[in-house]
Amino acid sequence: MTPIYKVLKNNDTAIKPIWIMRQAGRYLPEFRKIRSENPNFIRLCLNEVLSAEITLQPLRRFDLDAAIIFSDILMLPYGLNQKVEFKKGIGPILGDLNLDNVLILNEIDFVEKLRPVYKLVNLIKNSELTKNKNTIGFVGAPWTLLVYMINQKSPKSGLRKDFFKDKNLIDKTLKIIEKFLKVHIKYQVENGAQIIQIFDSWAGLLNEKDLPNYVYEPSINLVEYTKSLNIPVICFPKGIKKYKDYCENVKPDAICIDYEADPKEILRNIKIPVQGGMDPKILLTDKEKLKKEAKRYLDIFKDHPYIFNLGHGVLPETDPEMMDYLVKTVKNY
Ligand code: CP3
Repeated sequence: MTPIYKVLKNNDTAIKPIWIMRQAGRYLPEFRKIRSENPNFIRLCLNEVLSAEITLQPLRRFDLDAAIIFSDILMLPYGLNQKVEFKKGIGPILGDLNLDNVLILNEIDFVEKLRPVYKLVNLIKNSELTKNKNTIGFVGAPWTLLVYMINQKSPKSGLRKDFFKDKNLIDKTLKIIEKFLKVHIKYQVENGAQIIQIFDSWAGLLNEKDLPNYVYEPSINLVEYTKSLNIPVICFPKGIKKYKDYCENVKPDAICIDYEADPKEILRNIKIPVQGGMDPKILLTDKEKLKKEAKRYLDIFKDHPYIFNLGHGVLPETDPEMMDYLVKTVKNY
């Protein structure tokens, strides 16, 4: 059994596997080279040969326990025929959402549009470099995708004022997102994804009273669906604060915590396997601090099923040498 499966399926505490969110990306010069030759990010994600190369780049350098496919949560709105662009220094910009067009979209056309993503999963699953490692597929959670699709850009500086105004649009869009997310999960799994991670990057934007409606309810459906395919599911509800409540409601196989979560409190309150937590900014300091902080997480979760990861994606300004040091520190623990 792979190290991560031992933790997820057997609650093994003797092994501490590691993979890192955004392990493939801008902190690697070999990624930046491919990226500079491919200015259109969506088109790059739709080139399965280049996406496979990018996915495997960190595995050539570091002894990681999983490959996460190089793709994006915004491939879903792209598949639903909403325009998605990535502007340098700004982030994603989405076109207007035309619900009438989306409502007539069928599964076959959606899958055809995203076919390269599923081919990519297959290439990664069958690569020599992922032997005894897991291939991780992923989706954005319905709430986080709703945020991008309605807000049409990152909500870093808050949601637009009229975000919740058209309740009918919100409810219908959520239902459509949920329907096609199931399709997107199904095809990733059929093509070799052995774990699904659900990214709810903007869960922290909501008031507590709105969590059941927008975060718990839609996530429960996806978690149950993924489990029905016999595939473990890891949830990352970033900024949620009430992780215990989330786990009791959504019931993922493992919970990924962000850098604001107190690991000791998590240990006291959470019974399922835990992943992540360490602040990505620690990788911008020095080796001594990095080792100390990594060991702090490993010590706290010594007797708990735990997958090492960060509390959000690795930052673009990270020195790959620090990543190497982190992976070795965890492996030698
Ligand atoms: O983790 C991995 O290595 C797999 C690849 C991956 C990407 N995006 C590639 C990417 C994953 C898992 C994602 C998920 C994703 N995408 C999330 C959830 C996780 C999180 O970070 O909260 C979100 C919110 C997105 C949407 C998205 N994609 C944003 C906001 C941006 C622009 C911001 C930024 O970091 O520049 C992207 C672009 C993106 N997705 C890049 C990468 C490597 C950077 C592209 C580039 O300009 O080179």
